[in-house]
Amino acid sequence: MHPQIFPTYQDLSSHVAQKVFFRIEQHLRDKNHMVLGLATGKTPIGLYAHLLALFETRPDLNLSGLVAFNLDEYYPIPPTAPHSYHSEMQRMFFGPLQEINPSFRAEQQTHIPHGDTPDIKKECRRYEEAIHRHGSIDLQILGIGTNGHIGFNEPGSDDTTRTRLVDLAPETIQINADKFFHGDTNQVPRQAISMGVGTILEATEIFLLASGSSKRAILQDLRERNEPTPHNPASYLLRHPHVRWFVDDEAWGEYKERK
Ligand code: PGA
Repeated sequence: MHPQIFPTYQDLSSHVAQKVFFRIEQHLRDKNHMVLGLATGKTPIGLYAHLLALFETRPDLNLSGLVAFNLDEYYPIPPTAPHSYHSEMQRMFFGPLQEINPSFRAEQQTHIPHGDTPDIKKECRRYEEAIHRHGSIDLQILGIGTNGHIGFNEPGSDDTTRTRLVDLAPETIQINADKFFHGDTNQVPRQAISMGVGTILEATEIFLLASGSSKRAILQDLRERNEPTPHNPASYLLRHPHVRWFVDDEAWGEYKERK
């Protein structure tokens, strides 16, 4: 694990945004198609803001070949609920992007599991099939939970897992309550539909972002590990041939000059 370490969260966000933007441009130019895997949570907020600024500089880009798949959605939750990941993505990225560049049509080009599905198994199958219809995810953006979760693949999830209904760990419920629900754990849905670790590992390239001192212990665990373990689902990434780790100094604990 050889992360790129940044002095601040803003530096990290701006650097990763440039890299993601470059990949998007490149794929659209070469094959007029780019499948981007996206994440929610606090960590990618800066990335989305910087990406939008970059899209503003290139109104000529034809984004009709850009397709996005999000990692997860709470269950049960209607897409229109203010705390749904549908709403969050629309507010934070998809809506503004469509305004900046109308060749991007969020409704047709973005995918998030339906947290109000009446048939969970069918919805999970549909989601996996939708990804495969587009080939595979070219670039997956990930955050990491303090317990090592990626998507909502909580400890215990191994690399055979696919998109499915999962129970949120008590730690995740508490953290998300603090971050997004004014500390009220009763408001946090107890379950989610999440891509599996196996689904995530099929992405061609993966960028994992970690910021802040709360991530230090789980990163330390990864630094000391040679073999993946379901106790820390992010450890399966150690086997992926094209994963890049972007961390800030608070998360890593030591700043190294940028390469
Ligand atoms: P965070 O969440 O970005 O809000 O820290 C990361 C995650 O839970 O995957």
